[in-house]
Amino acid sequence: MFVMADALDSQSIDSQFYKPAEQFFTAFSSIGLTYDDVTLATLYSEILPRDTQLTVNLAEGLELNIPVISSDMDTVTEARMAIAMALNGGLGLIHYNMPDKQQISELNRVKNHVHGLIQEPLRVVPEQTIGSVLEMIEKRRFAFSTFPVVDGGGRLLGLLPGHVIKQRHSQRKVAEALTPRNQIHAILADQLGADPISKADKFFNDHPGIHKLLVVDKEDRLEGLFTLTDVEKIIQERNAQFKPARDSQFRLVCGAAVSATRNAFGELDRDRIMNHVGALVDRGVDAVAVSTAHGHSQGVGETVKLIRASFPSLPIIAGNVTSASGVDYLANCGANAIKVGQGPGSICTTRIVAGVGIPQLTALYVASRAARQRNVSIIADGGITKSGDIVKALTLSHAVICGGMLAGCPEAPGQIMEIGGKTYKQYRGMGSLSAMKAGSAARYGHAKDTTRKVAAEGVEALKEASAPVDSVLAQLIGGIQSGMGYLGASNLAQLRERARYIRVSPAGQREATPHDVVEVKAGS
Ligand code: XMP
Repeated sequence: MFVMADALDSQSIDSQFYKPAEQFFTAFSSIGLTYDDVTLATLYSEILPRDTQLTVNLAEGLELNIPVISSDMDTVTEARMAIAMALNGGLGLIHYNMPDKQQISELNRVKNHVHGLIQEPLRVVPEQTIGSVLEMIEKRRFAFSTFPVVDGGGRLLGLLPGHVIKQRHSQRKVAEALTPRNQIHAILADQLGADPISKADKFFNDHPGIHKLLVVDKEDRLEGLFTLTDVEKIIQERNAQFKPARDSQFRLVCGAAVSATRNAFGELDRDRIMNHVGALVDRGVDAVAVSTAHGHSQGVGETVKLIRASFPSLPIIAGNVTSASGVDYLANCGANAIKVGQGPGSICTTRIVAGVGIPQLTALYVASRAARQRNVSIIADGGITKSGDIVKALTLSHAVICGGMLAGCPEAPGQIMEIGGKTYKQYRGMGSLSAMKAGSAARYGHAKDTTRKVAAEGVEALKEASAPVDSVLAQLIGGIQSGMGYLGASNLAQLRERARYIRVSPAGQREATPHDVVEVKAGS
């Protein structure tokens, strides 16, 4: 059978139009291109999307199961987001717009997170009435109605079962209706071992009809509880394609951003940086990210060198840059993974305010040339608005950082607000005035002196409240896998090798989105 060659064959018809990165970007060397300016050509494929592998090794000791990282922004990543990202196989970078001590405690929360263990279960006290418990359930719309009962010192006295929380008993005290301590099951926290979920699962197997397992310390103080439903869900998830990203001790992975802090004399504050990074390393941080708007700068380079000298095997992410020389510089200083992006972010105004920055796809290509020579990873940071952008980014980089795509999730910091019947969450640039006042000024090279006028390089905005991280990532991952299927790429290295590009005209861009229809349901 005669089979016509696809764009991978340099003699083929396709290859005259659909070019590999080097030829394509060199041909457009005088114009900055970004995601919507190009599209990828399909290739002969034997790969089904669901069979594609998304693991990526960003540095020795930093392997992710999906190539997606949540941005180190104060409206995107604190412990809750970092936990959700790691559980899905990715990584969260905890922002640094908070006191060092608080950043360490956010990291602690991620590293100590036991999936499935409710660490602060709602508890009741023996003196309160059943009526007050009923009121609490209604007011806070709890979907569950079994509560541990504790004394003033937090010691476990029993369990208040759902079937006694009835209006007819509303005058009774919890003490009269509880199932006493000697009839309920509890396990000592330090007996949970390395795999607490399997332990809880075995317990539920061995005790038919029991749906809650309480966890106590040696003094019998309540430390948490497992529910049968949560444990069953997690056991099912274990068969999921993308496993949580964990360290060698089975803890979730977590990164933390650090700044190139200066002291009152304008010199790099070496002591503070070293003390803080040392504390993060002690708590098990999996990577630090030296995050600034201008990574190809002395302060960032010196900070990376400083950290590298004391922590030879700590994965260091640094940035941001948009040039090959920037990648080269940070690699020389000791960074393992380099963030690329100046101005593509949805809340960024760097290009408008400073007149500086490079459209993201061109920046990624230029940076990737140096990265290949230096054997460092590239992380595409900013400007991702859809899964197709991630596929394009991953043809030139090893992972992407998302801010805006995740800022509407319940796991992002901040309250939901309602405006005109719709729900939103705050999302602001780390270079916006309010974020700089809260502490991120160093990232943009400004002093944290709020009395001085500084030029903001980001806006304060809102994002529509969205589904939880699990669902948002499921959509994004589905898109990445689909893109890989079209390119016949079974893993991310093959995606980078096989990508063939073509420039899209404005009419081509319009053609790519739904058109000439009345849309009744959005695609995502
Ligand atoms: P997205 O598009 O995912 O972008 O919302 C998030 C990334 O934008 C960068 N960032 C900023 N860039 N001014 C800027 O020019 C800012 O105020 C700002 N805040 C964040 C950052 O790289 C982030 O990951």
